[in-house]
Amino acid sequence: MKVTSPVLGSLTVPIVGAPMAGGVSNPLLAAAVSDAGGLGMLAAGYRTPEQLAADLVHTRDLTTAPFGVNLFVPARPDRDRLAPSVEAFREELAPLADRLGVEPGPVSWGDTDHWADKVLLVETLAPAVVSCTFGLPDVEAVARWRAAGIEVHLTATSPEEAAAALALEPDALVLQGHEAGGHRATHDAAAEPVLIDHLGLLETIAPGTDVALVAAGGVMTSGDVRRALDAGAAAVQVGTALLLATESGAGRTYRSALRDPGLTERVTTRAFTGRVAGAVRNDFVDRHGPAAPHAFPVVDQLTKPLRRAAAEAGDVQNIHIWAGSGWRACQDAPAAEILQGLTP
Ligand SMILES: Cc1cc2nc3c(=O)[nH]c(=O)nc-3n(C[C@H](O)[C@H](O)[C@H](O)COP(=O)(O)O)c2cc1C
Repeated sequence: MKVTSPVLGSLTVPIVGAPMAGGVSNPLLAAAVSDAGGLGMLAAGYRTPEQLAADLVHTRDLTTAPFGVNLFVPARPDRDRLAPSVEAFREELAPLADRLGVEPGPVSWGDTDHWADKVLLVETLAPAVVSCTFGLPDVEAVARWRAAGIEVHLTATSPEEAAAALALEPDALVLQGHEAGGHRATHDAAAEPVLIDHLGLLETIAPGTDVALVAAGGVMTSGDVRRALDAGAAAVQVGTALLLATESGAGRTYRSALRDPGLTERVTTRAFTGRVAGAVRNDFVDRHGPAAPHAFPVVDQLTKPLRRAAAEAGDVQNIHIWAGSGWRACQDAPAAEILQGLTP
């Protein structure tokens, strides 16, 4: 096992609690994972800088163990090319929005995720780790974080993305396989993600680098963890395994969808946000997956009011049920117990 990352090397349990945006990886979950000996991660995606600052302070109140924060690298969807299909998608959503009593959301083509502010906020509040998804940070951001003593973890979903990430000399590299729940971390939102699993990524990338590798996607058992460590990972990153944890911020409708015996298939779809994501198949995926443009986060903004209304109404057919390939094995238990069960 290679460990170039002091933070990963200090863990008593080789498990990173995946950053899960949308309220799932809240301070309670991050602190619980860190207190259990793993690395808890806050998700900065969709949070305002003020909310993120509050999350960081709250987590620090809850635990003295190291934890990290994950940022979305901003996407720049091509407005001229994509605006017509986004407007057509808005029209396609109108009847469902009407039925749910809302309107598709307003869209903004700028950086609505406050990248520049969050780079500075992370530098100032200095969690132990910052990780990035959906692309690579600029060298200036990496230099700022390093100078503040923060470990930088990057994410890749293919050998090509791994090579680009390693060129920035990160402290660790998260290798996300296609079994992963939630968004694929693919650097180019418009590209079709590579169909390689985390063991395939480890096999290809581990022999050529000394950087600590974190394997993500479909890790649900201690056997899965063992296999990833044997294949060269320093740790695994688990998301789906923690969705039903007591401390998880997953909402009521999401939780019941994950246990719904009528929802039996997992797919990858752009239906909800314009980015490819691993989700349990429901009516929204079937109806709106085919026409959803490759425009993240604009499609996310359009569909958000519909998903919120569906969640409030307990309607599992019209929410995004992010899930990895192992979602059927999700356990409703405290995070510490889930981590214990995953420890080889
Ligand atoms: C609900 C949910 C939200 C996610 N949000 C993020 C995120 O904000 N940032 C990120 O880097 N990864 C995110 N991911 C992906 C995880 O980091 C990780 O790659 C994935 O959960 C691993 O696969 P698994 O779900 O099968 O364990 C999310 C995953 C889920 C299930």
